[in-house]
Amino acid sequence: MSKGSDDVPVSPLFLLYSREILAARQVLDLACGRGRHSLAAAKGKAVVVGLDRNRTHLRYLYSKAKHQKMNSKLFLVCGDLEADSQHILLEQTWDVVLVFRYLHRPLCNWIGQALRPGGLLLYETFTKEQVKFNTGPKNPDFLLEKGELPELFSTLESEYFEETISYDRGQALASLAARRVCNN
Ligand SMILES: C[S@@+](CC[C@H](N)C(=O)[O-])C[C@H]1O[C@@H](n2cnc3c(N)ncnc32)[C@H](O)[C@@H]1O
Repeated sequence: MSKGSDDVPVSPLFLLYSREILAARQVLDLACGRGRHSLAAAKGKAVVVGLDRNRTHLRYLYSKAKHQKMNSKLFLVCGDLEADSQHILLEQTWDVVLVFRYLHRPLCNWIGQALRPGGLLLYETFTKEQVKFNTGPKNPDFLLEKGELPELFSTLESEYFEETISYDRGQALASLAARRVCNN
């Protein structure tokens, strides 16, 4: 499970929680892109829903899932997470919600509420330190402030949080695992 689609590695954060993800029933991967995590999650028991606005990415993911005979477990939705204040998929509750390399702050409250009690959120995206590198987003709307990620999900119980800079990979990332507390 160390490689995702296009040979982009699955995140270490995903690997840390892979046991729980593979045992989950319903997983939502927001801004799934080419689906490195959707595909990895669909190797378990879960039905996985991957959402992205980029049809080309979704087509690639669909054909890859079909090739791996996983298309019956992976449902793809083409939609714009920023078009509505609350996306319809966030009106349901999920065992696990994955958000990797995507940030739209107004969604965070809805994402927290879209977890079933005890459900797990894995969120990993770029911090402002990313501007040191030539790759990745430059717009501050898409870059996290230091320590911001757990604050965006303050209604959840944070289990794991780190901010890392990898000069080898040219990546500055914040990674959070947080859980909806059972009585919330
Ligand atoms: C850097 S890629 C990350 C893909 C994947 N999560 C991963 O980590 O491999 C960002 C993805 O966000 C998607 N995206 C950007 N804005 C979006 C929006 N408003 N609604 C849905 N998807 C969006 C892009 O199409 C792209 O696939």
